[in-house]
Amino acid sequence: MSRKEHWDQVYSSKPSDRLGWYKPRLQTSLEWILALGLDRDAPVIDVGGGASTLIDDLLEEGYSAITVLDIAEPALELLRARLGDRGAAVNWLCGDITRIILPEDAFELWHDRAVFHFLTEAADRERYRENLCRALRPGGRLIIGTFAPEAPPKCSGLPVQRYDTDLLRETLGKEFELQHHRKELHVTPGGVEQMYLYCAFRFAP
Ligand SMILES: C[S@@+](CC[C@H](N)C(=O)[O-])C[C@H]1O[C@@H](n2cnc3c(N)ncnc32)[C@H](O)[C@@H]1O
Repeated sequence: MSRKEHWDQVYSSKPSDRLGWYKPRLQTSLEWILALGLDRDAPVIDVGGGASTLIDDLLEEGYSAITVLDIAEPALELLRARLGDRGAAVNWLCGDITRIILPEDAFELWHDRAVFHFLTEAADRERYRENLCRALRPGGRLIIGTFAPEAPPKCSGLPVQRYDTDLLRETLGKEFELQHHRKELHVTPGGVEQMYLYCAFRFAP
């Protein structure tokens, strides 16, 4: 099964609030984004945003230049349906972050919760990084949540690369300055404990 087939099938198989990564609110992401004090028209992208509620919350907070990218069209459809008219303000991109070519200097903030950790091949991580370095403006911010070393080795039935801060810094490269980090325990709707590592970086190419 291809990567896209996997994710299309995942979102078609269960309600989004029964998926392992579901949280009624992405508090850490939201809190950290708000703390950046970005202009409300600053362009932000949620990479692999799925059907998460972060976009509902960002729209509620007045962010007006939001892009959501996901490989799974059913995930984007779920989010679009939930947002209704509010979704008209969102820029929707269906694609694989390791294949799509994002425009240069397009975003002030790149958010990724539980997407980068699925890239277990160095070549895919490098293609992700190329997009990140092209599309994020100098001085822009990256907020990323991955499985921490204590987390299970798989997520959604797929192997993941687990990160501590040193490995994530090394993997992202010296252009990314770590500002702060936090570990957070997530318990899936099925009761499985998954320790996440959230890191906030400043892009200083
Ligand atoms: C574990 S879910 C996390 C969803 C969301 N970020 C959240 O925190 O609720 C991973 C998401 O990344 C998407 N995804 C996985 N691989 C991707 C890729 N290579 N390019 C774009 N999206 C991808 C999946 O469709 C899914 O929505």
